[in-house]
Amino acid sequence: MNEPLELEVGSVAAGGACVARAPDGRVVFVRHALPGERVRALVTETTKSYLRADAIEVLEASPDRVEPPCPYARPGRCGGCDWQHVALPRQRLLKAALVEEQLRRLAGLTRDIVVEAVPGDVEGLRWRTRVQFAVDRAGRAGLHRHRSHDLEPVDACLIATEDVEAVGAELLTWPGAKAVEVTASGAQRVVHVSGRIADVPEVEAGLVVNDQPRRVPHGVRHHVLGRSYEVSAGGFWQVHPGAATVLAAAVLEGLDAQPGDRVVDLYAGVGLFAALLGDRVGPTGSVLALEGDPRACADAARNTADQPQVRVRTVAVDAGTVSGRVGRPSLLVLDPPRAGAGVEVARAIVGLAPRRVVYVACDPATFARDLKVFLDAGWELGSLRAFDLFPMTEHVELVAMLHRPESAV
Ligand SMILES: C[S@@+](CC[C@H](N)C(=O)[O-])C[C@H]1O[C@@H](n2cnc3c(N)ncnc32)[C@H](O)[C@@H]1O
Repeated sequence: MNEPLELEVGSVAAGGACVARAPDGRVVFVRHALPGERVRALVTETTKSYLRADAIEVLEASPDRVEPPCPYARPGRCGGCDWQHVALPRQRLLKAALVEEQLRRLAGLTRDIVVEAVPGDVEGLRWRTRVQFAVDRAGRAGLHRHRSHDLEPVDACLIATEDVEAVGAELLTWPGAKAVEVTASGAQRVVHVSGRIADVPEVEAGLVVNDQPRRVPHGVRHHVLGRSYEVSAGGFWQVHPGAATVLAAAVLEGLDAQPGDRVVDLYAGVGLFAALLGDRVGPTGSVLALEGDPRACADAARNTADQPQVRVRTVAVDAGTVSGRVGRPSLLVLDPPRAGAGVEVARAIVGLAPRRVVYVACDPATFARDLKVFLDAGWELGSLRAFDLFPMTEHVELVAMLHRPESAV
């Protein structure tokens, strides 16, 4: 099977690989390639209907091909980045094409997308403020290979921030550990180790072992648009250093909350949007933040402790919660995980009839599926912004403003 195939590479597909045709007509998803290239590719996976392959030799290169800055971003090696071989402006065009395609296919909507760089971007590198390393039997920390549990030991990660790298987790030994997560906000750093580890190596950072605090700090602090947020180790926070500010500003702009508004914040995390919206709606308004993770809720309650108008509830967001437990909000923001809110939750939101909804999405396909529910109910898509929060990968973040036809934009 492993005679390399010579392939003409076509457009990019969800997942970051490009589409080609094998000599027998089957679709091939080719990694490490670019549209328009001719490559020799090694098959890495075969199914009845398609193949996966890695381009191992480029016969005709795209003008947008660059030398990957990271030595581990190679066929068969680290699976963390999809597009280190692609010039940054072209990465953003590929992401825009993927979003446009999902909107067309799943929501029946034609929209031109521009993917915006995040302020503070450094050539698409040094942006991960949180990295989870897997650990092998020998105690070495590394990153997973593409679609594999196999570990690629690395001595550095070029997309991690300098502050994360200062811990040097990749150069230490973690015997018995399953995973080591390093989080940094500036020089404030926390290492969160999980697994059966007896001897934790010396690190210049706070330490949490299997959720048990061992050494301060146990979390990090972030500052966004004049507010301060505490995030415990293992809690959710946007990973790119510029992400929280750019997303919060887009959410505030999209919702345009006024004093007295009643806002619901679904999948609220540690209260990033809830706290800022609390300031906008003031003491005559209200913000109800729903979040499923008790640890994030504890952080959110602390982060909004000065705002009696903000309430935080630990609850799983589902159609029942949305229909029955949030009252009649005038505005709603949701920021679900990759699976999206789902059709039932989207229908429940439509049923609440808020003036505006802002949907923050990290997966264009699940977003487009949910968007269709709003469009079918007569809602309109106002602004749709796309941010390059995850350079070198195929991922992109969307902030969409939706409104009922009779509501002002
Ligand atoms: C993408 S994060 C967004 C957090 C926050 N908006 C932010 O930007 O920092 C998604 C959050 O949803 C929470 N979550 C996931 N599924 C959930 C569910 N079914 N119900 C409630 N919260 C959920 C996760 O714990 C996580 O905090």
